[in-house]
Amino acid sequence: MSDVHVVVLAAGQGTRMKSALPKVLHKVAGRAMVDHVLRTAGALSPSTVTLVVGHKAELLQDHVGREAGVSFAVQQPQLGTAHALQQAEPVLAGRSGTVILLSGDVPLLSPETLHALLAAHTAADAAATVVTAEVERPYGYGRIVRQDGEIARIVEERDASPAERQIREINAGIYAFDLAGLFDALRTIASQNAQGEFYLTDLIAVYRRGRRTVETLKVRDPQEVRGVNSRTELAEVSRIVRQAKNEELMAAGVTLIDPATTYIDRDVEIGADTVIHPGVVIEGQTRIGAACEILANVRITDSEIGDRVTINNFCVVIGSRIAQGAAIGPFAHLRPDSDVGESAKVGNFVELKKTTLGPGAKVNHLSYIGDATVGAKVNIGAGVITCNYDGEKKHQTVIEDGAFIGSDAQLVAPVRVGRGAFVAAGSSITQDVPAGALGIARSRQINLDGWVDRKKK
Ligand code: UD1
Ligand code: CA
Repeated sequence: MSDVHVVVLAAGQGTRMKSALPKVLHKVAGRAMVDHVLRTAGALSPSTVTLVVGHKAELLQDHVGREAGVSFAVQQPQLGTAHALQQAEPVLAGRSGTVILLSGDVPLLSPETLHALLAAHTAADAAATVVTAEVERPYGYGRIVRQDGEIARIVEERDASPAERQIREINAGIYAFDLAGLFDALRTIASQNAQGEFYLTDLIAVYRRGRRTVETLKVRDPQEVRGVNSRTELAEVSRIVRQAKNEELMAAGVTLIDPATTYIDRDVEIGADTVIHPGVVIEGQTRIGAACEILANVRITDSEIGDRVTINNFCVVIGSRIAQGAAIGPFAHLRPDSDVGESAKVGNFVELKKTTLGPGAKVNHLSYIGDATVGAKVNIGAGVITCNYDGEKKHQTVIEDGAFIGSDAQLVAPVRVGRGAFVAAGSSITQDVPAGALGIARSRQINLDGWVDRKKK
């Protein structure tokens, strides 16, 4: 098979998004649109991948990264889709084979359709093959105009006659082109249309007039070629991805109490017999084990959760690890780099940051534990605070295995509480407490007998 070159158009501003971000950086189910498209393109193992950037090109280049095996072609100004493809000429000069042209704003395209496009294009030895779809609401898309059953041209919504607007077969904006003669043909395209742009879609009529073979490939599921031009379409396309993800998870043995209000990103993994309640958001690169229960209104981002973990209502867990059998919340906040050991417990209104809790440790009520290493079976009483910040630097607190920290103690870091030691309730601990010792640091209580009566007199 001849070489495959992928070109992704992503230079447009996406005016209808009304956004400071380039359109293709908007996320669909937790992943930027451009990343969806680049990942799908990767399925073809192409010889080259070129991303055409323009509007806020820097942002897009930084996002994709310069080492990702992607060449960038800058289109400045953005004069339309034909003009955009022309910018890839320096990358493709002197090469031969097939160009697969993708739109950065068509994120749901499947690898299967791309393989089918390449196969159909190669089998027909076509100059161009256009992916099309039959849709209920063709508004906004280019329409496929056929003569005697064969594609004759594509007409854009704004340039279409009332009769052409009735056509329900639309242009998906995804094509295969023979590289031979492609750039010469693009140079013949004019911009006499409603938008004054150089339309790539005009290439079809150019090829047909030149008696070159143009084929079409109609996708079975029109959802996968939906373009995103507005925030409404962004939400619709995201819903399609989420629905597919939810169905995949349920088929693999995960219970979703209410799939309609469960928001799980595409890359998330969840084990069988885990139960997810309504209003749960699971984002990024998160892995959840088997037989867990995630109660309502929990958010988990980029975290690793073991088997049989319970996360009670209204917890936020970010960039953290929770080992098997642990229980969290309700109303707990695990900030990045928290590591909760096996069967440990983190209770109501507890915040952890850069903190390791050993196996079986408990922090059950109203605590802030930051920059701390807490050993196995440590019990941290209600209201305990690590004073980890002196206004300039963060300091470490170490609490060794089996220690007991009484309620409302403050541990002024850097400080260490030794193995099995006790800290008396209400203490402000500023020095290390040796193993097995009781640390007590509070003023002594005095009772003034009869004081109340004396005051009344
Ligand atoms: C385009 C097609 C339309 C098709 C639809 C499918 C044209 C003229 N029209 O319309 O037939 O039904 O896609 O989704 O091709 N871009 C550039 N540089 C530019 C202009 C656009 O890189 O100068 C990029 C955009 O960033 C976007 C893609 O090309 O990723 C499509 O552009 P857009 O303006 O969204 O075209 P549509 O109006 O959707
Ligand atoms: Ca579009």
